[in-house]
Amino acid sequence: MIKHWLTSLLIAIQFSALMLPTLAVEEPIVQSTSGSQTMNTFVADLMSKMTLEEKIGQMNLLSIGFDVTGPVVSKDVDSKIRKGLVGGVFNTFTPSAVRKLQEIAVNESRLKIPLFFGYDVIHGHRTIFPIPLGLSSSWDLDLVERTARAAALEASADGLHWTFSPMVDITRDPRWGRVSEGSGEDTYLGSAIAKAMVHGYQGTGYEKGDSVLACVKHFALYGAAEAGRDYNTVDMSEMRMYNEYLPPYKAAVDAGVATVMSSFNEINGVPATGNKWLMTDLLRKQWGFKGFICTDYTAINEMIAHGAGDESKVAELSFNAGIDQDMVGELFIKYGSELVKSGKVSHSTIDDACRRVLEAKYTLGLFEDPYRYMNEERKTAQTMSADKLALSREAAAKSTVLLKNANDVLPLDPKENIAFIGPLVKDKRNLIGNWSGAGAWEKATAVWDALDTKFGANKFLYAKGCNLVDDQAMIEKLNRDGAMLTKDSSSPQQLIDEAVATAKRADKIVVVLGEPFCMSGEAASRSMIGLFDNQVALLKALKQTGKPIVLVLMNGRPLTLPWENENLDAIVETWYGGSMAGPAAVDVLFGEVNPSAKITMSFPINVGQIPVYYNAKTTGRPFDDKEKYRSKYLDVSNLPLYPFGYGLSYTKYDYGNISISSATMKPNDTVTVSTTVTNTGKRAGVETVQFYIRDLVGSITRPAKELKGFRQIALQPGESKTVSFDIKRDDLRFYNSDLKLDAEPGEFKAFIGPNSRDVKEVGFTLVE
Ligand code: NOJ
Repeated sequence: MIKHWLTSLLIAIQFSALMLPTLAVEEPIVQSTSGSQTMNTFVADLMSKMTLEEKIGQMNLLSIGFDVTGPVVSKDVDSKIRKGLVGGVFNTFTPSAVRKLQEIAVNESRLKIPLFFGYDVIHGHRTIFPIPLGLSSSWDLDLVERTARAAALEASADGLHWTFSPMVDITRDPRWGRVSEGSGEDTYLGSAIAKAMVHGYQGTGYEKGDSVLACVKHFALYGAAEAGRDYNTVDMSEMRMYNEYLPPYKAAVDAGVATVMSSFNEINGVPATGNKWLMTDLLRKQWGFKGFICTDYTAINEMIAHGAGDESKVAELSFNAGIDQDMVGELFIKYGSELVKSGKVSHSTIDDACRRVLEAKYTLGLFEDPYRYMNEERKTAQTMSADKLALSREAAAKSTVLLKNANDVLPLDPKENIAFIGPLVKDKRNLIGNWSGAGAWEKATAVWDALDTKFGANKFLYAKGCNLVDDQAMIEKLNRDGAMLTKDSSSPQQLIDEAVATAKRADKIVVVLGEPFCMSGEAASRSMIGLFDNQVALLKALKQTGKPIVLVLMNGRPLTLPWENENLDAIVETWYGGSMAGPAAVDVLFGEVNPSAKITMSFPINVGQIPVYYNAKTTGRPFDDKEKYRSKYLDVSNLPLYPFGYGLSYTKYDYGNISISSATMKPNDTVTVSTTVTNTGKRAGVETVQFYIRDLVGSITRPAKELKGFRQIALQPGESKTVSFDIKRDDLRFYNSDLKLDAEPGEFKAFIGPNSRDVKEVGFTLVE
């Protein structure tokens, strides 16, 4: 069949020389068998027919359709496809929409090379799951993988081949809006989640057409932007990069991620998108990455503003750095041929990049059937199917963190007279969070609707209490991002008065507050990260009633909540829970689900503490509030309000003594650290038992604590389980100042606990 296809292609090429611009050839491009030999031969044969411009065309990725996810919109996409100048398209989906573009590619372009279609499927496609920061709080890798798998099933049935996920940037600055898209501050957990997501999206392969290529992003270190301001400068020691920030990307590569996206930021003076050390030396040579690398949105062009050169120069830098696809910027197609002809970019650089893109298409089976991902029946069967909605509810409940629960005010009893207050009680718009472009917020289930369904219509009291945002300038800014914010016709004081009157008739008050969804995500940094003043004013007025208050939060980042923690009875962090956010919140509030999630980013007391994260260094003058010359603040503790790994449950877990199988570890030994955890409360629950290590002396300074393992155990009331963690010498390795990965003999501490703060410890020594 391949031979047949090549003959017809040859005829087409000869013919097209006479019949320009394009020639429609009926035969589809056929891939007869799989296997890398076949792929290599196939791609090599195809490339031998391609002009330089067509090869560079495969390196061009354009955006068309429903969404604009950057400052520029691609133009004349159809005609560029016809000319063979487009490798892939993103921001459009549905079988019929992508079919039209694919038809142009395979019927009207000279070589009929199919396109692939990408999209930001970040936390679900049509069915939306909790935002990644929320989902990471579940610490449930199987759940994470299942949500990615479900997203792949829906996306691949909707004409998509490729998702720009997972985002694995380590995030320690909650001012940065994009913390919502990642898995928080920890390297070990972030790496495990990266792997689970890649497996979920890519499944066991592409034969069935129900998997999508994953894309790990943003390579690299995008989460370390100075001051949490999006796109800002990153300057970091190599040791910190290797030990703390790079491992999650590497984990995705090791898990077989098909593609990598370059980041917008510079790294130590060189923009990532033009950074040869990063893309070629590290990613390809050291890590052995075989897939293709795309840029972020116009990231090559943005190197001009970084100060790296003019259009031609930044294109040259990116080609030579090892970038394979230019997202939207079109500088590759504008300058590629000229740069090759002048010798500034080699033919082999272009060939390598083109080959990688074609290999991805081959792997997806697109040469065999360019339309295999465009099946309306499969789309209907997959889209928001009952099992996915059930998964969305499960995921949202398992991502909900109980931050405070004084006097067991929760769970609620439906027999109680409860007032639900707040602008988010009946809201749907915000539930699916940011980066949920294919999700329909109208189809999300609000808290109030879930209460109605579960307990009958209007069983509880309700008052709006305040506008989500009162500040007019902020409303206008956010509405440009689709926030759909309006102000109530009642004045703020009238809203509060009405809420207080309602609250007085209730036994308990549940207040649902938070951030509008578009206050997190891209280009959504904040300098203050507390609840808005008008929301706090409502809480303060409700507090005057003396009734127990439960605060339910919907937001995309750790917030500063010192007043709320001090004054309210319970705080429940639900993030943006997704399509089934409402039912999941009700499941948790009424105790059908016992909360088990634990935060993966520390919640600071105030903005001045940022960055505050658990695995910091001790410094030479470790924190001590009673001493003057210490590394500390005069006006606030060094510790966050809620530490990494923290989250409560409706039951209590007692951690027994910590024991170790041997206080000495020889190079080939495995040492086991154990504890027994007992459920001393009245409800069954799931506890995430966390295991940390501290290397007390090193050739470079080492963090005060590093997560090295965790286990989730289910415990019935009264039940105990012994949990053990094995440590081997390799678990103690780190990159030293020569960037050599090795363990150093000496003293260590091992810790086990329910979070990074409240741990029990035991010492051991690694000997040569
Ligand atoms: C810019 C964002 O930084 C990136 O995460 C996203 O995948 C692309 N735009 C495409 O929408």
